[in-house]
Amino acid sequence: MNDIGGFFELELNQGLEYHNNALRLNLGHTAFEYILRLRKPKRIFLPYYTCDVMLYPLKKLSIPYNFYHIDKKLEPIFDYKRLKRNEYFVYTNYFGIKDCYIKKISMECNNLIIDNAQAFFSFAVKGVDTFYSARKFFGVPDGAYLYTSSMLKEKFKQDNSANRFRHLIGRVENSPENAYSLFKKNEQSLYRQSIKTMSNITRRILKNIDYERAKNIRLENFNYLEKALKKSNLLNIKLDKNSVPMVYPYFTKKKDLRNRLIKNRIFVAQYWPNVYEWVSKNCYEYYLTNNLIPLPIDQRYSVDDMKNILEILDLSIEISL
Ligand SMILES: Cc1ncc(COP(=O)(O)O)c(C=O)c1O
Repeated sequence: MNDIGGFFELELNQGLEYHNNALRLNLGHTAFEYILRLRKPKRIFLPYYTCDVMLYPLKKLSIPYNFYHIDKKLEPIFDYKRLKRNEYFVYTNYFGIKDCYIKKISMECNNLIIDNAQAFFSFAVKGVDTFYSARKFFGVPDGAYLYTSSMLKEKFKQDNSANRFRHLIGRVENSPENAYSLFKKNEQSLYRQSIKTMSNITRRILKNIDYERAKNIRLENFNYLEKALKKSNLLNIKLDKNSVPMVYPYFTKKKDLRNRLIKNRIFVAQYWPNVYEWVSKNCYEYYLTNNLIPLPIDQRYSVDDMKNILEILDLSIEISL
């Protein structure tokens, strides 16, 4: 019987999760581990341009892997049609803008794993193992979803996120600068976790989110920046009609924009510093790591905030809205 009465818990709406029919897990890289345990691949091919935590499950399970390069469209320079039966190919939906390509590759590549850590809103293609990481899009401490056609027999412990809220609450109560070290601490504590099911509190928060609103705001902000920056963006972006990007990926030759933005308290990440160690200086991935600036477009911000970003970039002259 459920408990009844007494003091209140944190008050949250009881809505629907966006990925209501997926497996609920703790993290993106443990969802990847789940797929590896299920499919038991002999070898994995993954992009150089990705996050180093993707290697943890591969090393843990002693699965051999090779990296592949990507081209200017962020698509693999690799003949995936020649994969052997037990070899699997990981493709990342970069910034949530590669849905069109994923539709194409899904038809051509049998042993495909889609990393949608940067594409929370993208749909999974039927029959393709696909995982998501919630905290890249929303104010949750952890949480992942996985679509796969079968399940492991093993029962996994449920995660407990009660002690992972200091940075999230810190950012509400104090400045982002104050909470940043707490955020880093939380991130570090998440690496090398084992597979768990999603914690109660993370799920409750994910049920509380207005996904339609988040989607619309993201698209409005993205489209505003795209109009202003398209001409100077070295990345040619073609969004699928259902795509909802994580950020606006601004790939530019201009130097020092990242520092200028951060000095003006526009906090932009760098994906992924580990790539500097994996490729040589003349590789495209090195250039992407150095020069791609992920501009925030998420549901916390309005078009006015986008105008401020453009002002700091000093590119307002290029706006022809
Ligand atoms: C492209 C990509 N894939 C996978 C992951 C792993 O997700 P998680 O940190 O939830 O394990 C990350 C994390 O940053 C990522 O950027």
